[in-house]
Amino acid sequence: TSSNIVIQGPFTVPSNQVIDMTNLVSGAKVTVKGTITWAAGTLNKTNWLFNIGGSGVTFDGTGATFDGNGASYWDGKGGNGGVPKPKMFRSLLTGNSLVKGIKILNAPVHVFTILGSDTTFDHITVDDSAGTSKGHNTDAFDVSATNIIIQNCIVINQDDCLAVNSGSNIRFLSNQCTGGHGISIGSVGTGQTVSDVLVQNCTVNSEDNGLRIKTISNATDGYVRNIVWKDVILNSIGKYGIVIQQDYQNGGPTGTAGSGVPITNVTAINVHGTMASGSRSNIYILCAACSEFTFSKVAITGAAPNCTGISPAPQGCSA
Ligand SMILES: *[C@@H]1O[C@H](CO)[C@@H](O)[C@H](O)[C@H]1NC(C)=O
Ligand SMILES: *[C@@H]1O[C@H](CO)[C@@H](O)[C@H](O)[C@H]1NC(C)=O
Ligand SMILES: *[C@@H]1O[C@H](CO)[C@@H](O)[C@H](O)[C@H]1NC(C)=O
Ligand SMILES: *[C@@H]1O[C@H](CO)[C@@H](O)[C@H](O)[C@H]1NC(C)=O
Ligand SMILES: *[C@@H]1O[C@H](CO)[C@@H](O)[C@H](O)[C@H]1NC(C)=O
Repeated sequence: TSSNIVIQGPFTVPSNQVIDMTNLVSGAKVTVKGTITWAAGTLNKTNWLFNIGGSGVTFDGTGATFDGNGASYWDGKGGNGGVPKPKMFRSLLTGNSLVKGIKILNAPVHVFTILGSDTTFDHITVDDSAGTSKGHNTDAFDVSATNIIIQNCIVINQDDCLAVNSGSNIRFLSNQCTGGHGISIGSVGTGQTVSDVLVQNCTVNSEDNGLRIKTISNATDGYVRNIVWKDVILNSIGKYGIVIQQDYQNGGPTGTAGSGVPITNVTAINVHGTMASGSRSNIYILCAACSEFTFSKVAITGAAPNCTGISPAPQGCSA
């Protein structure tokens, strides 16, 4: 019920406990200082270690760290099995809220789950670098929300840097992603829609993919539209530089694109960089229902393109 709250570390949250601040008063200010560590426990992915909600809230974690104790959970299976793993940070914030400055260290699995609306995430660090061999599904920002800005962040993880599963008006600006699976939209499934996503001035280093849109092959009643990738640098990408695929299934693509979630109006401007040796395609498109793809100044060296199911093919597809 307070409007000014300080979480003063260092301290350890006991096993199987979470911090729940989902009912903050409107306009509350939450300041975190020092390091808060969560003791290992048996919570699963239906739990988040930290939860926040309210309207017009400012959460300032500048200089502070949330340590999720990932090494106690990582078994290479992520959210798909193995030991139960809690997610890290759930935002239900709305109404011009701001989350800034916090460093999230060693999240067991998914890091930020962004629900709610109208919230900016600024100068956040996600460091799951210690999970290189066994961390899995450590998505940095999973977004199912509207009017969200994520900017000036540094991410080192083992899954998507951004994954927009549903929502609209999402801006991902001036972020640096290393070690994971790319800046993604999707996977988009039945009944889900994603529109108006802008990725600008971002760098992707040594990730499986650079920029990706994936829709579930047999999904229906959804769409992806109005996507812009602008001024993006891709360094040493392991599989695909730009990938748009309509054949996704968890566990592996089917190879057969589905048309139930059309992808329209995708713009790539000034996207350049390099593929790693042994990579598959600099541009990979496997579509059944795609249109209005406009690429310009796209130059990704080190692998050839492979585009099927899009007409006219965008610039770079036939190079
Ligand atoms: C996950 O934890 C919740 C309690 O937080 C429990 O109700 C549920 O049964 C657990 N699910 C699994 C699969 O263990
Ligand atoms: C682009 O992003 C970098 C961080 O990677 C930042 O230092 C720079 O100020 C950003 N440039 C603009 C024009 O926003
Ligand atoms: C889509 O395919 C998956 C995997 O084969 C299956 O589990 C699911 O039931 C299918 N969904 C629909 C809507 O057909
Ligand atoms: C395509 O997307 C851009 C960026 O969101 C938007 O400005 C433009 O109006 C869209 N075009 C159409 C035909 O909807
Ligand atoms: C291009 O992609 C299609 C669809 O995944 C695949 O069947 C084919 O082998 C690929 N071609 C090359 C040259 O990699």
